[in-house]
Amino acid sequence: MTENHTALNGRRILLGVSGGIAAYKAAELVRLLRGAGAELRVVMTPAASEFITPLTLQALSGQAVRQSLFDAAHEAAMGHIELARWAELILIAPASADLMARLAAGMADDLLSTLCLASAAPLWLAPAMNQQMWQAAATQANVAVLRERGVQLLGPASGEQACGEQGPGRMWEPAQLLAACVTHFADGPLRGVAVTITAGPTREAIDPVRFISNHSSGKMGFALAEAAAGMGARVRLIAGPVSLSTPTGVARIDVESAEQMLQASLADPGEIFIACAAVADYRAVQVADNKLKKQQPALELKLLRNPDILATMAGQRPRPFCVGFAAETERLAEHAQGKLKAKGLDMIAANWVGERAAGGGFDSEHNALQVFWPGGDRQLALTTKTQLARELMTLVATHYNERKT
Ligand code: PMT
Repeated sequence: MTENHTALNGRRILLGVSGGIAAYKAAELVRLLRGAGAELRVVMTPAASEFITPLTLQALSGQAVRQSLFDAAHEAAMGHIELARWAELILIAPASADLMARLAAGMADDLLSTLCLASAAPLWLAPAMNQQMWQAAATQANVAVLRERGVQLLGPASGEQACGEQGPGRMWEPAQLLAACVTHFADGPLRGVAVTITAGPTREAIDPVRFISNHSSGKMGFALAEAAAGMGARVRLIAGPVSLSTPTGVARIDVESAEQMLQASLADPGEIFIACAAVADYRAVQVADNKLKKQQPALELKLLRNPDILATMAGQRPRPFCVGFAAETERLAEHAQGKLKAKGLDMIAANWVGERAAGGGFDSEHNALQVFWPGGDRQLALTTKTQLARELMTLVATHYNERKT
């Protein structure tokens, strides 16, 4: 057992197992969670026991495995409502397409779906299914409904599937699921705090094939999301189009345009709002329905200013603790302090981009920041974005917690 795993000592996790070939991985997951100190109760759907026997999970969990809503002996020991109240976290791995459809519809037609409805605990799903089933419109609509209700999806991963096909639909590995649980229960200066982070570029369409965008890779914002989750925060990461995988335990919302990023931010600004995205300042007044033809030697595009997402969040009531970024090519401190004031922020992290970035800035693995807040500043030296994100989040947590008290 690693030192980290003591974070799960005595934590009450209800593990749901639904029917799918990945159910065999539940055995390893039970072993890992128990080894990490979690108190486990396993609930299987009837279909799950076609893939793995309840006896296996019972032997590994050291507890009777529950399968039926109408089991008088089990109900007498711990009724299903009691079990729903007992859980601090419900993790369903694997979560089949059928189970997700039933959860999205609010069904309570077996013990597991009933427990999900009856519990106030966070609900996490680790989907596992054939890639075509995952991509089916019905499944994606169910995923959207569940996400909107605050259900966290862990995965699925992409790769070779049991059916021989390639694509998204593989269940996360048990070790990844364990790490997500550890992060969730981690004690840290942001334990339980809702943090919303924007990351990456936005894309503003010109016609069906062209867009205005910038060089942001999302690396800085994703590193911040990982660091915040590691400090115990509940992180929502609103990501523009980037090709990065979601940090463990982080809820990700993918968007394209500034307008979509604004709407996703307004839907839940969190207690701390961090704007790391490089939002396109302008969009085309008119998006052409068809691909623009290159008939003219010159083409004039009329652009319209996009809404300022960060300034909008700083104007909300109640107002989140607002942290901005400033990407500068000249007079870094002066411009950053100007933005701090103009947008009414609690803190701003300024970095060089372009020629003066010196190994940092857009798309690099490294960066350096000069952080300003009303009445103070701190220099964070060039290092990896992972390390820098930890340093910045420590500073954010200190100021946020001071403000709260
Ligand atoms: O993604 P990487 O490749 O890792 O690169 C990281 C980064 C350089 C993109 C990042 O560190 C960074 O500097 N992000 C902010 C980029 C930016 O748009 O800065 P700005 O100075 O133009 O904007 C100031 C602030 O207002 C930013 O917090 C920005 O998110 C926000 N903003 C800007 C315009 C707008 N319409 N809405 C906003 O919320």
